[in-house]
Parts: sequence; structure tokens; C-alpha cells
Amino acid sequence: TIRRITAPEISARKGGEPIVTLTAYHAHTAAVADDLVELLLVGDSLGMVMHGLETTVPVTMEMMILQGQAVVRGSKRALVVVDMPFGSYEESPAEAFRACARMLKETGAGAVKLEGGVRMGETIRFLTERGVPVMGHVGLTPQSVLTLGGFKAQGRDEKDWDAILADARAVDEAGAFSIVVEGVAEPLGAKITELCKAPTIGIGASAACDGQILVMEDMLGLTDRVPKFVKKYGTLRDHIRGAIQAYAGEVRDRSFPAPEHTYSMKKV
Ligand code: KIV
Ligand code: NA
Repeated sequence: TIRRITAPEISARKGGEPIVTLTAYHAHTAAVADDLVELLLVGDSLGMVMHGLETTVPVTMEMMILQGQAVVRGSKRALVVVDMPFGSYEESPAEAFRACARMLKETGAGAVKLEGGVRMGETIRFLTERGVPVMGHVGLTPQSVLTLGGFKAQGRDEKDWDAILADARAVDEAGAFSIVVEGVAEPLGAKITELCKAPTIGIGASAACDGQILVMEDMLGLTDRVPKFVKKYGTLRDHIRGAIQAYAGEVRDRSFPAPEHTYSMKKV
């Protein structure tokens, strides 16, 4: 039997071989990636990728639980981490604990992720002391898009560094087992990695991070609009369109279904 990678095992990878991670929202994509990555994140980016939302703000606990269950079922080895959606954890440590406990119990995931630095420090400590492994998320935090006024890279001006470094430190000191660093100037990504004892997982951050993450549909070339930090390792959109065009042509000229795809009568 294959044993799951645990949150403490991810923590122990600090400064070692880079930690390979991807998002997954479905059982089948989780199964395809399971033995190739260390960690699968059920990101609230599923709101945009799966549901066509403009931001992650409207994503619900129910959406995250459903897809979290699918990814846990589809995988055997990777640590599954589920994003806590906007509005489920920010109000108080007690509220966060109830929501995170529900998430872990109903999905079987190994950890949760929540956004925010200094303001979430007390909550992350409360959770980790009570058995909830927490992945932090600092830098560009998409759930704050309405107050930020858009998705913009952070820390490109040196005067902004202190606040972002304080955020990373707060999450680290509160006991996060690892920290996503999103959309920051490259030298700041490297600096956060150097200062934190927890491994950093970069997305639009720095190759110096202890690991990297991308949204799977973005790196496969399935989504059309992608941020600067996405490298497309595949051209899934073209493959899917080509397959659908071939199917459409064969349906129209009646060459599909062929005899091998149809059922004959039983021989009597
Ligand atoms: O929701 C998401 O996909 C994420 C990662 C990109 C870090 O939070
Ligand atoms: Na997210």
C-alpha cells in the first residue's frame, strides 16, 4: 500500500530538493499527477477555472469540500491541501477552527491553506496547536482583491518589503508547515525563503523558493488568459479542440460510431 506524504514531511524538506506541487480539482487529474508531485492543492482558483467566476471571493465551503473529496479519492500518495474559502476563517480563531475541522473531517485532506500574514498569525497558531496543519499564503493574496483593487505583483518597491516580510515571519512563527509565496518581486521571494524556517512554495515568486506551484489547467495550456508567471508546459486547449473537431466531422459523415463501437444482436 502507498502511504500519504504528511505535512511534517513537507516541512522537513526545507532547503532540500525542491518540492513539486500542482493544483487539482478533480479525481482524474489528481490520479494522473499523484505520483509525479509531492503535494496537490485543491485551490479556490477552482472558482475561476471550473465555475467561470471573476475572483475567488464567491467560492463556498461546499464547493471546496466537494472538490476536496474528489481529489482525496483520486490520489494515494500526494499530500492533499484544501484552500479555506473567503469568509470561512477570518473572523476569529474559533470560527476558523470550526471551519477547518469540518474541512478535514469531510474531505479527508491532510492540511488546509489560508491567506494572510500578521493578521492571521494568532489564528494559525490556534489551529496548529489544535491539530490542524496549516499552509500559509502571503504576498499577492487573491481573496483580498476587492481591497487591493486588482491582482498586482507585490514588493516591487522596496518600501513595501517590511510589511510583506513581517507577514511571512508571522505565518512562519505561528507554526505554518509551509508557506505559499505568490506574485512578489523575485529578490523578495528569495529573501522570504531565506528568513522562514517553513519551506516556501513559490508562484510568481523565485526559483530560490523551496518548491513551486502552478494551477494545473494553466500549465497544461487549457485556460486561455494566464498571468505572466505561468509557463505553459502543454497545449491541452489545442488537443481538445482537435479531438472535438475530429469527433464532429465523424458524427456528421456517419463514420462514427463504427462497427467496433456498436452492439450486435445476441446469437441464438
Ligand atoms: O487557489 C490556488 O490555486 C492557489 C495557488 C495558486 C497557490 O492558491
Ligand atoms: Na487559492
